[in-house]
Amino acid sequence: MTENKSRVVVLGTGGTIAGWAPDPKQAHQYRAGEVAVGDLVKALAPQGLHIETEDVARIDSKNMNWTVWQQLVARLTYWLAHDDVQGVVVTHGTDTLEETAILLHSLLKGDKTVVITGAMRAANAPDCDGPVNLQDAIRLAATPGRAGVVAVFAGHVHAPASLTKLDCQSLRAFASSDPVPIEPAIENLTALRERFSGQPDHPVDMDVSAFLQVTAWPRVELVHNHAAQDGWLVRTLIASPDAPEAWVVAGTGNGTLSQGLEDALIQAQEKGAWVWRTSRCPWGSVQAQRGDRLSQVCALNPCKARVVVTLALLALALKQQGLARPLP
Ligand code: SIN
Repeated sequence: MTENKSRVVVLGTGGTIAGWAPDPKQAHQYRAGEVAVGDLVKALAPQGLHIETEDVARIDSKNMNWTVWQQLVARLTYWLAHDDVQGVVVTHGTDTLEETAILLHSLLKGDKTVVITGAMRAANAPDCDGPVNLQDAIRLAATPGRAGVVAVFAGHVHAPASLTKLDCQSLRAFASSDPVPIEPAIENLTALRERFSGQPDHPVDMDVSAFLQVTAWPRVELVHNHAAQDGWLVRTLIASPDAPEAWVVAGTGNGTLSQGLEDALIQAQEKGAWVWRTSRCPWGSVQAQRGDRLSQVCALNPCKARVVVTLALLALALKQQGLARPLP
């Protein structure tokens, strides 16, 4: 790498990229988040770069939650505000990486490069993929220019809106609608940014400082349509004292719902809850039809839609905008 006076910051949150197996011959038996991010970076020995490292958390990302997200957003905001910080890398477990990516994409207002990456094999596994992914992420974050929030995995750069973990074993675990190989992305950050600008955007009208002060999160539940879905879960929860304030439904195909589930969600809507339809299909996006009684649709996958709907509810509560519904 050539000499670069700017700094790159690597924030660790845990995951398999920081995982350690007591016996590397049984590398699938590991604990996520065991290795400090500083040690992951040190093992790469990057030349000619000024790198800061910080562990924000050391968790398995199946346990990602709003408190850790607040800590991560706080540290990102801190570092991104430094003029000499070119970009920030976030190391993350792959299981909820796409949710964190969409959160950061929706919330962070600046367009400095933030690269989120992870790995499918523990740090001491013989076929570990973390070092290459981290190296690629650091190189992209160090590149002059601004790419906004992107993910880097298995030699490709992905936009948060369409990023999805599709494989729970392969080293190429992630897919997106328009992945860009890492080398052309580094060569032309402006082209990368323009290419990704065509993807659906989901900005949330909320200051980071307001997000950092939230202590109570609205309950947004996710429900799937499936064969023999009769809406029992929705009817049961809307009758409870702490009924969800919003529902994201992973519909079949183009966001379709069984009669039982649709009736139950219409009841929820009539009681004041938001209902957003998405699709359980990994590709394509739900199109609203004239006459839909559940008319709000979201192009994000169900788990990412849940993050953005929660932020939108919060933004609305914070602004006390009455009935206006910010579009996720
Ligand atoms: C995790 O998501 O923290 C564990 C799994 C992984 O990183 O691949």
